[in-house]
Amino acid sequence: LEYEDGNFERKDYATIFEVTNKLYEDNLKDEKLQYLLDRGLTLESIKKFELGYAPRSDKQIAHLRDQNISFEDCVDIGILAIDKDKLYARQIERITFPIRNHLNKLIGFGGRTLKNSKDIAKYINSPETKLYSKSKVFYGFNHAKEHIFKKGNIIVVEGNLDVIMMHQANLNTAVATMGTALTKEHIIQIKKANARAILCFDGDIAGKKAAYNASILLSQSEIDGGVVIFDDGVDPADMVKNDRTDELYALIKKPINLVKYALNYIASNYDLTNPIHKTKVLKECVEYLKTLNPIIANEYKGYLAELLNIATYHIVLG
Ligand code: UTP
Ligand code: MN
Ligand code: MN
Ligand code: MN
Ligand code: MN
Repeated sequence: LEYEDGNFERKDYATIFEVTNKLYEDNLKDEKLQYLLDRGLTLESIKKFELGYAPRSDKQIAHLRDQNISFEDCVDIGILAIDKDKLYARQIERITFPIRNHLNKLIGFGGRTLKNSKDIAKYINSPETKLYSKSKVFYGFNHAKEHIFKKGNIIVVEGNLDVIMMHQANLNTAVATMGTALTKEHIIQIKKANARAILCFDGDIAGKKAAYNASILLSQSEIDGGVVIFDDGVDPADMVKNDRTDELYALIKKPINLVKYALNYIASNYDLTNPIHKTKVLKECVEYLKTLNPIIANEYKGYLAELLNIATYHIVLG
């Protein structure tokens, strides 16, 4: 297909997205709706975040055909896909989470299966398209944006449900990276808002590692902020669902400083009672601190000395 210009293309894609989103929204009922209520979401949240349920592939294709929508356009924006010459919907029988950009335009969908099987992906997100880039998107940014700018903080979580439950608990600066690492492109958006970043990743090994990588990137970018650590196996959505919001508020009020978290994380991979290990931790921590603004790095010399129980003169950053 050929287009006159980029504007026409955009407008057309937006319409296709809205039609598809409406189909999904109208199809959320019975046990699918009940699933979300059982997960602790209110009807208000379900409506605000426009959650839906994607029907069978053939039903979606028939619906798109009825609306005279070009299948090729649908493939371009990741609503349909072609596999072995066969056209099919990307979101099939999944709870749908429409993803809007900062201008509130639909750019993709996330989808969660209701099945409990190791053989299928729990979530399927939009593929990379002209509109959607997973390394740039912050799920929930359309709702969080004005609060982020107003309050000067951004809460970063892992998943779609974490965002929704955070907002439900009035923590309306929450956004998610949707399971991927925090990137330089995400950092640009945080910088623009001049916001403090509060990382609230899952209380598991993957979450702690992701928080470490994000802490490094944020501190190197001279962004202030901290990390919240949850109990093993707990994520922010669980905290809200299980009426632990007061605990959550307290944790978010006093997160562990990003640089301190990174230093602690490095140390946690070693046995500090072993002198050889201790020198390795020192080396790794110093290497990290050297990547920071030297004025900032210098502020953490005392903390690192205390962490390793060594004299500050052993910490040479220059
Ligand atoms: P989690 O595995 O922590 O899932 O992945 P979750 O959000 O807590 O899932 P629930 O509570 O069981 O529904 C965090 C995020 O990573 C992305 C999703 O965006 C998810 O919300 N993810 C996860 C994927 O993209 N694919 C997957 O297979 C799993
Ligand atoms: Mn709607
Ligand atoms: Mn996780
Ligand atoms: Mn999780
Ligand atoms: Mn979860």
